Amino acid sequence: MRKLFFANWKMYLSDEEADALARAYAEGALSASVDVAVAPGFTALERVSRALAASKVALGAQDAFWKDEGAFTGEVAPKQLAALGVKYVIVGHSERRAMGETDETVARKAAAVAADGMTPVVCVGELKEEREAGRQEEVVRAQLAAVLAALPKGAAFVVAYEPRWAIGTGTPCEPADVAAMHAAIRSIVGADAPILYGGSVDPKNFKPYLALQDVDGLLVGGASARPDDVRAFFEAFAS
Ligand code: PGA
Repeated sequence: MRKLFFANWKMYLSDEEADALARAYAEGALSASVDVAVAPGFTALERVSRALAASKVALGAQDAFWKDEGAFTGEVAPKQLAALGVKYVIVGHSERRAMGETDETVARKAAAVAADGMTPVVCVGELKEEREAGRQEEVVRAQLAAVLAALPKGAAFVVAYEPRWAIGTGTPCEPADVAAMHAAIRSIVGADAPILYGGSVDPKNFKPYLALQDVDGLLVGGASARPDDVRAFFEAFAS
């Protein structure tokens, strides 16, 4: 399968900056050897969707609620995202788990996203102390099991392995450790679900990850929102 470069712009960009960067992505994707998706903040979704229209770049969102309507102040319904042309929705990002998201809420969100015809990008990953205790696979298996139990049979999904200690720290996970974890995830989810690696990926360090057999792509945060790094990624993808 073609590899996927998935950009998570978090809360880094103004809507104007997101619009401009989306146009750079649209241009870069024309000659890229990978598939590309971007997840801007909610307020920029409509603008970015227009900037990406007729491009090869897919639109993503960074979260969604597990209901499609009702008295849920401040939440965003999967149905609203689908109406904007969103294809992928990140669920269970570690920055949200750190703010109280649980395996149960992540599972409900993944199911709701799939029910509206979009693809959940299910983030899993262990804490530093869990890895130090050798419990990383056990933790990730439990996170995945909750989601797989909730997803309708046959629903498309993507898994993103993002060790929590590697996100935004400048300390990515060693490729050998990524390979071991992805092989463990593959044995659970099978061949059809793409498995992305994320956590401090940048234009200088990404190649060894993409070369791994069970790494189907990258989930990139900080570097995906910096125009110079984006240019460097696309130069590498075009060569
Ligand atoms: P990072 O974030 O690339 O800034 O480490 C990755 C992510 O949170 O998806």
